[in-house]
Amino acid sequence: MRQSSLVVVANRLPIDDSQAPDGACEWRRSPGGLVSALHPLLRHTPATWVGWAGGTGAAPALPDVDGVRMHTVALSPEDLRDHYEGFANATLWPLYHDAVEQPQHHRRWWEAYQRVNQRFAEATAEVTEQGGVVWVQDYHLQLVPGLLRALRPDLRIGFFLHVPFPPPELFMQLPRRAELLRGMLGADLVGFQRVQAAHNFAQLVTRVLELPATDRRIGIDDRVVRIGAFPVSIDTAEMGALAARPDVAARARRLRQDLGDPRQVILSVDRMDYTKGIEQRLKAYSELLASGDVKVRDTVLVQVAMPSRERVGQYQILRERIEREVGRINGEFGRVGEPAIHYLTQPFDRAELAALYRVADVMAVTPLRDGMNLVAKEYVAARVDDTGALLLSEFAGTAAELSQAYLVNPHDLEGLKQGLCAALRASPADTTQRMRAMRAHLEEHDIRAWARSYLSALDERGALVSRLTSTDANPGTANPDAATAADDAPVPRPATPAASAVTHQTSG
Ligand code: ADP
Ligand code: F6P
Repeated sequence: MRQSSLVVVANRLPIDDSQAPDGACEWRRSPGGLVSALHPLLRHTPATWVGWAGGTGAAPALPDVDGVRMHTVALSPEDLRDHYEGFANATLWPLYHDAVEQPQHHRRWWEAYQRVNQRFAEATAEVTEQGGVVWVQDYHLQLVPGLLRALRPDLRIGFFLHVPFPPPELFMQLPRRAELLRGMLGADLVGFQRVQAAHNFAQLVTRVLELPATDRRIGIDDRVVRIGAFPVSIDTAEMGALAARPDVAARARRLRQDLGDPRQVILSVDRMDYTKGIEQRLKAYSELLASGDVKVRDTVLVQVAMPSRERVGQYQILRERIEREVGRINGEFGRVGEPAIHYLTQPFDRAELAALYRVADVMAVTPLRDGMNLVAKEYVAARVDDTGALLLSEFAGTAAELSQAYLVNPHDLEGLKQGLCAALRASPADTTQRMRAMRAHLEEHDIRAWARSYLSALDERGALVSRLTSTDANPGTANPDAATAADDAPVPRPATPAASAVTHQTSG
């Protein structure tokens, strides 16, 4: 088995097998923020990515993607149903997002979660070099750090949670709460999007496991686990360069024409998920149309809502409700050739997304709860002429960084309407000032700064950091939250020293 000194473990691989219109299997970039964040980072790094390829049955052998080795973990139809759709997306996902939908609990789902986590841990143990670094991602795999440590105590293990980590009163609902916490504590470093999440975790560890914990360090057995906040980001320069391309600018102009040359375009781009606040946004928009504050001829709303987790009941119900509401609003307020809402459920390539961002005078990102929300960051990165207004939910992790956005509480319908009107009516001077500040923030706090701050806290030897983030000058200081975790005294080293650079090696 070929081995790497850096292994990323995530539920999904960065490519996904999907059905082409003619029924053939085709590979395309996987949906969601995790892949958007990690894929540009790892490109051309001799690392291995362990994950699921999106189907059921035997694990397909995949070619390297942009120089990164793909190591597939197979899921059976039962695993898909009980692990991915069940425990991950019908228990943990709603619970971690403020229980905006009711989390469901089934013992069979927990068994599948354990089984699939064990399979991921074993696959990772096989492909990681002696003393290597493993970076486990997200809520699907919370047991992997502990299981992997039992198999391979020589490894340096990091865990990063892309979604919110809930307050104790919600997490305590989980029947297997102690096991989940212990699983995460198998890591040397547990990273969250926000400081509050690290605080919630420390509180829970104290309460449930009765371990000594601060918001930075937790003692378990003879080890110290560090915790901290590392807000994930995007490849800001890449999105900026894409948006600045003449063909993308031309496409944006064409899109505006196709939309009927309205005075203003509002855009939303979401996975079709009940956490994204799509229904609340549509209601606000509908009321503004009804009151005449927004007029169809002046303004169009483009709502991109990519179907997600389509076999989970709550997602099916959501899609039906959204489509009914879009139909109602278009029926009531649209005109022939002038719909009030342009509703699209297709995947777009990056250039088309960049063109959409360029055409949007107002970007409405109003989730009820979101770990980060990279769409908001992509919009800002794409506004290369410093124009455009970002309407942003206070409950998105992004709001902690992009405080110059027009911030709204999406649960407050009147506040949402006022925020949308404020963004639509803002003066160019105001929007430019805000956009400049947000763009300056993202230029500094991009995906490489995120990786640098996390990996330099995980692997203080530094070789990994310089290899992955070659444009860096100053490891560990780009992100003030992360520096708090990194600044603590070093945790005990693993028994076996790791390789001094990222390498692949063939053995066995
Ligand atoms: P989440 O991780 O919950 O899906 P994020 O906003 O963090 O939410 O990330 C979503 C990612 O998916 C972004 O990089 C965005 O560009 C991408 N995306 C969303 N909708 C589409 C679509 N229709 N086509 C292609 N990419 C999309
Ligand atoms: O951001 C949360 C997350 O679950 C990510 O892990 C993933 O990028 C995204 O949402 C898409 O979800 P799924 O893998 O279920 O399609």
